Amino acid sequence: MEQKLKDKVVVITGTTSGIGAGMAKLFAAHGAKVVGSGRRQEKGEAVVKEIIDNGGEATFVRTDVLDQEQLQNLIDTAVNKYGRIDILVNNAAYEPTKVFAENTYDDYRKVIDTNLGSYIMASIYALKYMREQKSGKILNINSVTAEQVVPGVGMYAIAKAGITNLTKIIALEYAKEGIRCNEVNPGLIMAGAFEDPAVREWAHDAIVNGTPVGRLGTVEEIANAALYLLSDEADFVNGTSFYIDGGRRLI
Ligand SMILES: NC(=O)c1ccc[n+]([C@@H]2O[C@H](COP(=O)([O-])OP(=O)(O)OC[C@H]3O[C@@H](n4cnc5c(N)ncnc54)[C@H](OP(=O)(O)O)[C@@H]3O)[C@@H](O)[C@H]2O)c1
Repeated sequence: MEQKLKDKVVVITGTTSGIGAGMAKLFAAHGAKVVGSGRRQEKGEAVVKEIIDNGGEATFVRTDVLDQEQLQNLIDTAVNKYGRIDILVNNAAYEPTKVFAENTYDDYRKVIDTNLGSYIMASIYALKYMREQKSGKILNINSVTAEQVVPGVGMYAIAKAGITNLTKIIALEYAKEGIRCNEVNPGLIMAGAFEDPAVREWAHDAIVNGTPVGRLGTVEEIANAALYLLSDEADFVNGTSFYIDGGRRLI
């Protein structure tokens, strides 16, 4: 099999489950040295073990992205271990359900700081090294929610809309320094909350009628899109939002 990320040092936030775990496994199968992260140590270590058992290379660094020292440490650990950071994938997210006016100050801080703040700060920490290297790629796992607002997850949607401009500004300011930045915008995916059958039943109409393709997407479909954007084949792709949503944003 052609290895599209051979020897690339890849840091991913939130590899303890879902799309982050799926990307970690796929990227490692494509030759990447994966530095995964998250708060749930056991789950993170289990993903690393699976990668190593399959002949890949991976490390887990326990990280709460709301803690700046831990977030900086995640990036520094990759560079200290491998001498460089080729790719940062911002993926960690928190999506509580609450109508807009019921959010408290603490709700607002947690949602915005997790979903947007951590993407901003991890990018700043990684760019320091990428600019010295004169190469690097940042991929933001965004959401269809960046474009399509639905009731009950407004604070999350505000953060996700911000990620699109984060993607554009990095793409614009650092392209001449050999750095690319893009985002993947998943629709409804069989991961996170949708792993719960009760949530799938509650969201049946959104999945079947609110998505032209009429089904949930898979973790593999998102991971493959991410792999393409991070491969050399996509060197001319910069500042793009890649919607993998079965057409959901069109409804
Ligand atoms: N599933 C969908 O339908 C869907 C749709 C659109 C977009 N997305 C996006 O896809 C990405 C992955 O989501 P998912 O569906 O795979 O959900 P998931 O399985 O719940 O994964 C979320 C990840 O974020 C990590 N995380 C959350 N808060 C964190 C914190 N404070 N510090 C460190 N890590 C933290 C979690 O790790 P710990 O809990 O171990 O810390 C976990 O690994 C997110 O950006 C999400 O917005 C998903």
